[in-house]
Amino acid sequence: MIDKDRLPKHVGIIMDGNGRWAKQRGLPRSQGHKQGAKTFKLICDYANEIGIENLTFYAFSTENWRRPSDEVAAIMQLFREYLADAQKRKKENEQKGMRIRFIGDLGEKSGVPKDIQRLVRKMEKESLDKTKTVVNIAVNYGGRQEITRAVQELAARVKEGKLEPDSITQEDISALLYTAGQPDPDLIIRPSGEYRLSNFLIWQAAYSEFWYSDILWPDFTTEDFDRALSDYANRSRRFGGI
Ligand code: FPP
Repeated sequence: MIDKDRLPKHVGIIMDGNGRWAKQRGLPRSQGHKQGAKTFKLICDYANEIGIENLTFYAFSTENWRRPSDEVAAIMQLFREYLADAQKRKKENEQKGMRIRFIGDLGEKSGVPKDIQRLVRKMEKESLDKTKTVVNIAVNYGGRQEITRAVQELAARVKEGKLEPDSITQEDISALLYTAGQPDPDLIIRPSGEYRLSNFLIWQAAYSEFWYSDILWPDFTTEDFDRALSDYANRSRRFGGI
């Protein structure tokens, strides 16, 4: 068991390797994503049990639209099913203290199917504010897009005469990101042997610790998660100091 004081408050996870997992088994890529969605639920529940307060899962990036349309449709279908299931399990999630949020561009012109947009809005309205674990699911998310959106809002405030350019602070920018009010990720996990951030939480990750492994996301277990947490607990974070 890891000392509670050394648990990260916010863990970001890049769910990578689903396609390769499916290929290894001679299955269509969509089966890899389906298995990846199971791993997502497993890790959510486990992280909630052990008391992780914030989780962010990279589920679909602004660049993922470049994939074949049947693969995009299969991933969207998983979101749809998950949202319907979360609706059914509302009481259960409330008891566990789990709040589900979708972050990213899910607006009317986003290209995200309208029924998913509606389900997300409904869920957001019903979600508890203060809770044990906040689960952010990043869909149609890109870090640069997120920062651009914040800059556009600040520019609008300047134009309206409500804000002086010189008075803009880092906190002002953080407050306009999708993760506003949540701590920056302490730990970012990327399985499947890739060593990139891929436009994930690029502002928030300034001082995050990284944990990589060769395991493909559908094979990722609670033991792997424990290994990442235990490595994190043994690291010394200096935030630029000594
Ligand atoms: C990256 O692996 C994975 C994705 C682009 C999709 C991730 C989505 C899920 C796991 C579904 C999540 C569902 C819910 C309900 C949150 P890849 O396809 O790039 O793998 P590869 O590098 O092996 O090809």
